[in-house]
Amino acid sequence: MQPLFFTIESDPGLAKNLSQQLGAEIGKLNMRQFPDGESYLRVDTDCRNRSVIIFCNLFQPDDKLLKLIFLASTLRELGAKKIGLITPYLAYMRQDKRFQPGECISSRPFAKLLSEQLDWLVTLDPHLHRYHSLDEIYSLQSRVCHAAPKIAEWIKNTIQKPLLIGPDSESEQWVSHVASLADAPFQVLSKIRRGDYDVEVSLPEVERWQNHTPVLVDDIISSGRTMQETVTHLKSSVPQTAVCIGVHGLFSDEAYSQLSMQAEVITCNSIPHLSNQIDICSTLSDAAREFI
Ligand code: R5P
Repeated sequence: MQPLFFTIESDPGLAKNLSQQLGAEIGKLNMRQFPDGESYLRVDTDCRNRSVIIFCNLFQPDDKLLKLIFLASTLRELGAKKIGLITPYLAYMRQDKRFQPGECISSRPFAKLLSEQLDWLVTLDPHLHRYHSLDEIYSLQSRVCHAAPKIAEWIKNTIQKPLLIGPDSESEQWVSHVASLADAPFQVLSKIRRGDYDVEVSLPEVERWQNHTPVLVDDIISSGRTMQETVTHLKSSVPQTAVCIGVHGLFSDEAYSQLSMQAEVITCNSIPHLSNQIDICSTLSDAAREFI
């Protein structure tokens, strides 16, 4: 039997492609707000003994989370057999440590909430830094897929002599993977973050790469400061305009407009944005297929 596919407040284009690649039936969902602002939800497709996929992209997660929990628990009560989540971006993974006394390590309660309601989870390049695997905080079955092959393909097809640069030690896992697939040299810089908008990045060593195009690769572009700091260093030492590639372009405030004045900015379509040029739909659907 075909799996059922529900979407909660996520990119309709990616939802359509995912459901088609998974051969899923689109489930009917009635969702609205009561006059008092609370959420109303009704599942209008029979889900008894059906495998169910929920596509809910958890960037800006706080508003979506409750609806996701309501839907998963309703599906469970109505007899769904297996309930999984596809979220191209997995939120709260950067909160993996108590940086200041008393802080919430939000990745943990977030993981607990999702694990209580869902059987499986598919996501793309979550920010695994201090955690080495989702299993350290998630108790459901999970599959992490990687954008590196698609990013490497884009680089190979677009840039003649790339020099890949990871702006901080955390980015080494992504940049080294992409570099080996794209057969390109890479270097990793070091970063000190003093606040949300205050970062310092070490100087890249680019003397011997003067005829290469610097290609920065990172998992997340949020405030854009990490990329901007690195691009500023490069502008004074390399003639070519830098290319900034982010797996997930969150782009808070003016991040995109400021960064795109100094560099070419490219992202995967894990978060809908005008910088999307790398399609990761088949990466996600191949991973999800293992669970249905
Ligand atoms: C954190 O270490 C990540 O890998 C990114 O470097 C970071 O999230 C980028 O954030 P921002 O764009 O705010 O500098």
